[in-house]
Amino acid sequence: MSDLDRYLTEHDRRIHDELFDLLRIPSVSARSEHAADVRRAAEWVRDSLARVGFEASTNETPGHPIVLAEWRNAPGAPTVLVYGHYDVQPAEPLDLWLSPPFEPTLRDGRIYARGSVDDKGQLFLHMKALEAHLAVRGKLPVNVIVLAEGEEEVGSENLERFIEANAKRLAADAVVISDSSMFGPGQPSILSSLRGLAYFQIDVVGPTVDLHSGSYGGAVVNPATALARIIATFHDANGHVAIPGFYDAVRDWGNDARAAIRELPFDEQGFRHETGAPALGGEVGYSTLERIWTRPTCELNGLLSGYTGEGAKTVLPSKAMAKVSCRLVPDQSPEDIGRLMDAHVQRVAPSGVTVTVQHLHGGRPWRAELEGPVFEAARRALGAAFGKEPVVVGEGGSIPVVGDFQRILGTPVLLMGFGLPGENAHAPNEWMSDENFVKGAKAVAAFWDELPASRSQLSAK
Ligand code: BES
Ligand code: MN
Ligand code: MN
Repeated sequence: MSDLDRYLTEHDRRIHDELFDLLRIPSVSARSEHAADVRRAAEWVRDSLARVGFEASTNETPGHPIVLAEWRNAPGAPTVLVYGHYDVQPAEPLDLWLSPPFEPTLRDGRIYARGSVDDKGQLFLHMKALEAHLAVRGKLPVNVIVLAEGEEEVGSENLERFIEANAKRLAADAVVISDSSMFGPGQPSILSSLRGLAYFQIDVVGPTVDLHSGSYGGAVVNPATALARIIATFHDANGHVAIPGFYDAVRDWGNDARAAIRELPFDEQGFRHETGAPALGGEVGYSTLERIWTRPTCELNGLLSGYTGEGAKTVLPSKAMAKVSCRLVPDQSPEDIGRLMDAHVQRVAPSGVTVTVQHLHGGRPWRAELEGPVFEAARRALGAAFGKEPVVVGEGGSIPVVGDFQRILGTPVLLMGFGLPGENAHAPNEWMSDENFVKGAKAVAAFWDELPASRSQLSAK
């Protein structure tokens, strides 16, 4: 056992107590009534890093604060930026939680709490790996910047500007992020791609008030029907997105990457079972993993219109609304997809109603260059901590800042997540595997030792 592993094992109890303190803070970034809690979580992260030897601050934005912590006492050594987010998704519906979302509970080797895996547990295991180095050896082998934001779950609206404004200070040789999942239990994984996002709200307005559907129905265009007709034009019968131009910028994934996906031991029945859906379905001509990792989508996230209460009410609704998000793959951009969506919706909108499209937020898709010393270091550290070679996997979710790091800082980004499939991120009963939390901290601690000692070695391929 290494000196770092021993430290982490000896302090396991306190480390868990601290994690649970962080998980108790309801830092729900989407809800204004939680703004003070979000700030409290930022200050908690700042103070925790300051206690172990980082120069740490909270930085104001028009939204929630950004935590920046630096340790720069390794002259000549590379600089690595660790990113994570301390905000969480809303916990509703509360009645479906078996234990309250902000009262962390360890059951059956699982840490149950909102934010346990997404992303507080994963951010915190990085903080403890850094602490292990500083406590045991009094130093880190490289210079480290920790950047923790409080707006990831609401689209990272203010982070891009912060990175641009502080590009010099944030200059790094590599970025490391743990905010994703492993391919399966015991199987460490390195991410090779993330999808981007373009999020829309479509509003359809007809008559000024709800109307009697007998007295007016048939003579006034029904906004709910109009919206349904618009939405129905988004896909063809084969599950392809039918918005003209939607696939124009899609870069071919490449035969090697496709073959690598086919070789992964994917349990399709287990995946279906996890969803509870009676069958899987999607774009014709692609496997399930290809559909999630390599293909763009146009997904309906929410629908609202008319009478939905008990019993029947004969009414012609005055308006209808839909939330729609497109997941994007390289080289689609949220701006281009926004323009295509606007044009398409206006083209297919029935007359007799007013249709508007709002652009809520977006993020760029990302694909990794999986070579160089940073990835080799991650392979070795993950392999040692989990006793198994890591696999390279794609991801269907989005972390908007990743594309920004690559674009603004010109830095390679390494994503090694310690979540697991089925951990209910964004859903009731979110959990993080305690084994992954513990092994993740050890893997990350070892990762720092595996990095080359000098900048020139790190940038060499
Ligand atoms: N950690 C997730 C991204 C993710 C999801 C990684 C699933 C791996 C597996 C992140 O917190 C997230 O939820 N992202 C949002 C982005 C959005 C709010 C802009 C997403 O993917 O919906
Ligand atoms: Mn996350
Ligand atoms: Mn999330």
